[in-house]
Amino acid sequence: MKISIKNNTQIQKMRIAGKLASEVLEMIEPFVIPGASTGELDKRCFDYITDVQKAIPANVGYRGFEKTICSSINQVICHGIPDNNRILKDGDILNIDVTVIKDGWHGDTSKMYLVGKCKPHNERLVKVTQECLYKAIEVVKPGAYLGDIGHAIQQHAESNYYSVVEDYCGHGIGDIYHEDPQILHYGKPGRGIEIKEGMCFTIEPMINQGSKYCKTLRDGWTVETKDGRNSAQWEHTLAVTSNGVEVLTKRLEESL
Ligand code: MF3
Ligand code: CO
Ligand code: CO
Repeated sequence: MKISIKNNTQIQKMRIAGKLASEVLEMIEPFVIPGASTGELDKRCFDYITDVQKAIPANVGYRGFEKTICSSINQVICHGIPDNNRILKDGDILNIDVTVIKDGWHGDTSKMYLVGKCKPHNERLVKVTQECLYKAIEVVKPGAYLGDIGHAIQQHAESNYYSVVEDYCGHGIGDIYHEDPQILHYGKPGRGIEIKEGMCFTIEPMINQGSKYCKTLRDGWTVETKDGRNSAQWEHTLAVTSNGVEVLTKRLEESL
């Protein structure tokens, strides 16, 4: 368990990578409409990262994953594989998760998209899950504990009668995509590792309408809820500053 502390030069590079990742999510938004395929969205993101950003899509070839984005619809929790035959329909909720490498440094982020007109119960899941991420970000500062992050998420999710997925977590990030520490999305205040200036990690809560249990499909990647009810996820890459936190993957639509 060696947690790397990034210096200002390194954080400046992560700022650039994070900004690029956020811009992929902004670029793709107008294309997330009923009738679009997740394969088409993936190709648009790949072309944008490689041709426009002159950056590297980190997911391609990562542990055998072949695509640029993870596209996770409705009951899919995470790691959905883009497919030209998977057509978005009115009322779907979709997570797009993308990681960009620029100058050797990573930016990892995801957001939920409402496809056409969605049911209120799905809109509420998406909104509360984003609130979970924001409440978690609010507790991040030197001297706080990783357990404070998990607690903030678990508290908000469960008070809304949702459950927190425990099988996947956030992670340290830098010149390595997934590094220590693990960032659990559940926990108790004051427990776990103390947060220090210069740490960089993601928070990426996955929140379920039903039970917390997951199953992985036979493609070896797609993770779905065991009970078939819907799940949502939002992710940001963060850097811990001297007195708080900087959201490296902030989008223009966000006021953070
Ligand atoms: N971006 C995901 C995360 O938040 C990991 C995706 S790995 C992949 O950590 F191989 F599925 F792309
Ligand atoms: Co991600
Ligand atoms: Co991540």
